[in-house]
Amino acid sequence: MRDELLAAEKVKAIEWRDGTLFLLDQRLLPGEQVWLGHDSAVAVAQAIRDMVVRGAPAIGIAAAFGLLLGARARLAAGGDWRAALEEDFRALAASRPTAVNLCWALERMRERLQRVKNDGEVLAALEAEAVGILDSDREANLTMAQLGMELIRKHQDGPQKLLTHCNAGALATGGFGTALGVIRAAHLAGLVERVYADETRPWLQGSRLTAWELAGDGVPVSLNADAAAAHLMKTESITWVIVGADRITANGDVANKIGTYQLAVNAMHHGLRFMVVAPSSTIDMSLEEGDDIPIEERDGRELLELDGRRVAAEVAVVNPVFDVTPADLIDAIVTEKGVVERPDAAKMAKLMCRKRLH
Ligand code: MRU
Repeated sequence: MRDELLAAEKVKAIEWRDGTLFLLDQRLLPGEQVWLGHDSAVAVAQAIRDMVVRGAPAIGIAAAFGLLLGARARLAAGGDWRAALEEDFRALAASRPTAVNLCWALERMRERLQRVKNDGEVLAALEAEAVGILDSDREANLTMAQLGMELIRKHQDGPQKLLTHCNAGALATGGFGTALGVIRAAHLAGLVERVYADETRPWLQGSRLTAWELAGDGVPVSLNADAAAAHLMKTESITWVIVGADRITANGDVANKIGTYQLAVNAMHHGLRFMVVAPSSTIDMSLEEGDDIPIEERDGRELLELDGRRVAAEVAVVNPVFDVTPADLIDAIVTEKGVVERPDAAKMAKLMCRKRLH
């Protein structure tokens, strides 16, 4: 399966080349494929904030390279460059609040930096760490794709109808995707009849990114309005909802794109299984439960306007862009360390003590 997935790989969103971080501008997809070069920590933080790059693992990877770019400039400026670099750590960490992968990646960069005493070795060490973060995310996705596919096969043997939300694909990660990695592997194993892709208001990650990725792979995909999901669960014999995650707390609660929580409630009502796919870098054992997760609120114009054109009355707007699905609505959390079925605090703690499977 790993080789088949590798052979079928078409999409990537992040490339480190000749000392520059190239990001595929996801705001322009699927119409245009434009790569933007970034050569400073400030520019990378801005790209994360502006959604040039998005998706929890992808913003963690981008932040790691952002920090490397920051270190390059601070070292060249001389003086107490380590103290000055703290500003870049802060700017990158503050660029988006909900996905924990961002701080996880910066923490890895900090630990690596602290181990290097000789200034002449700093940039090579940080580059190796950032590349390692990118490569290990790809590897984790390959492992999770296999585990999630096997989970589907454990419960069903013919082609299934699946539903996904937002984009948890190659574009949101170092490659292949988390939820879409599982869907890709299931497709290769003959377990997919059709994927329903929620449009995912207001940024349309479902229609612009997920539908594009799946169609490009030849996976049968139908786009639906977010509000159609419960109706489709009732009428289309969907068996699984498969989503990614931006942060998972110690008790197994899951923050993911706004709308995920209502999918989980509806899945339970209709007797569908609910699978969350995320690398262990998305698990935040420092937070006890989902209510502790900071939920990003974005600009009200995302709802008041369409393509820059005002479409709503002059009213107040509430625009939380993530929500929390409680652990008791989740059938399985798939990570590269293994699968946790019916998650709770004890099972999550046991998982996090394990070594990676690959
Ligand atoms: O606002 P975004 O696009 O950065 O949202 C993050 C996501 O893509 C999703 O929540 C996703 O399901 C988890 S990241 C693989």
